[in-house]
Amino acid sequence: MSITANAGTFTPNKTEPIHRWYQYMEGYSSQLVERELDALTGKDIHTIYDPFGGAGTTLLSASMRGLTPYYSETNPFMSLVVRTKINRVMDLCRSPESLRLLNAFLSAFLSGDTEPANAIPFPDTWDGFEKYYPVKAFRQILDLKARIAHVEDPAVREILMLALSSILVPASKMIRRGDLRYARPSEKKCCQPVLGLFSEKLKEIITDIRESGPSVLCPVHPLAEDCRCIQEENLIDCVITSPPYLNGTNYIRNTKLELKLNDFVNSEADLPDFHSRGIVAGINNVSKRNHHDTVLPQVQDYIAKLQQCSYDKRIPLMAANYFYDMNQVFSRLKQIMKTGSWFIMDIGDSQFAGVHIPTHRILAALCETHDFTLCSEDLLRTRHSKNGMKLSQRLLRFRLEK
Ligand SMILES: C[S@@+](CC[C@H](N)C(=O)[O-])C[C@H]1O[C@@H](n2cnc3c(N)ncnc32)[C@H](O)[C@@H]1O
Repeated sequence: MSITANAGTFTPNKTEPIHRWYQYMEGYSSQLVERELDALTGKDIHTIYDPFGGAGTTLLSASMRGLTPYYSETNPFMSLVVRTKINRVMDLCRSPESLRLLNAFLSAFLSGDTEPANAIPFPDTWDGFEKYYPVKAFRQILDLKARIAHVEDPAVREILMLALSSILVPASKMIRRGDLRYARPSEKKCCQPVLGLFSEKLKEIITDIRESGPSVLCPVHPLAEDCRCIQEENLIDCVITSPPYLNGTNYIRNTKLELKLNDFVNSEADLPDFHSRGIVAGINNVSKRNHHDTVLPQVQDYIAKLQQCSYDKRIPLMAANYFYDMNQVFSRLKQIMKTGSWFIMDIGDSQFAGVHIPTHRILAALCETHDFTLCSEDLLRTRHSKNGMKLSQRLLRFRLEK
């Protein structure tokens, strides 16, 4: 199967049934996963693990091929997205009554029958999050949330909450441009009408459940939230994943509106705690809690260069800790994967103050210490850092023999 030039990004998923429900710019496309699984056709593969589950692209594609998917994910909202797109879809396909309820919610909504059973006056504040919305929009969002809370069927409720979560950014004053930030006046994609966005999203979801829901074959199984803590042994035949990039995005801050709507955080002060649970990948999560002094031998030269020319002393610390954390991940992967299994990793390199960090080379060297052999490598696309240095996104394919 051939793939498009943007297969390493989320963009092709925007038109793919179910994959399109929640746009996760940090993810890759189902195309990429499909191509890798096609290439493994005929191999003895039944179980797939994504240690960095994200929006569940690997997991949904695997489920649609009848492979049993497992995942880890430290962001509780993303974990909800994964379970909703797979397990709740399977629930609805097995229960005509649930699908009828979902349709009934949409019909009532479209016909303007929108009074909640126990109408409550909506507050003027939302623990600080109201500042991201026009007043009318945040009240409509809270009104919809209250209405969804009245739905008794848990699968229908979760699907409706995903529909509402997925319109939170376009309905807000914010925009995703790499990171989530306030939109400039010239950027028109913000502050779109809540009710129109919600009804369109719900129609899309219902269409996808009808047309593609029956293709979702295997439920997804959550393992430890932090993939460095998984306990299982010799369970997995194939891993397809994209770890956080060194100095990449802040996955928690970028989903703060969704985390708030789904009651995972109360205020923005709760975000750093979630952020510190993930791999150390950004300068702001170099904290006492997750800081190690060990600099792995494979990274020592790079850390020395960074110490000489970094404008911020946290940069060498972040890099040393990133590779330390990733080394722990590879150690756990060796434990959970079977001998002869496949490990496919999408990764990009980085630069700091003109010092190039070949993340893919360093990670490959670490993998080799855990008995993974690099079999092949693809250049997915070239990127450019802010200072113009040419960077890359690559796909590395390993085989484990233990
Ligand atoms: C690049 S994204 C993965 C995107 C995914 N491949 C997709 O297509 O949707 C990396 C994900 O890893 C998660 N993460 C970071 N540290 C983690 C850890 N220690 N264990 C599990 N997940 C983690 C982040 O929350 C983020 O969702």
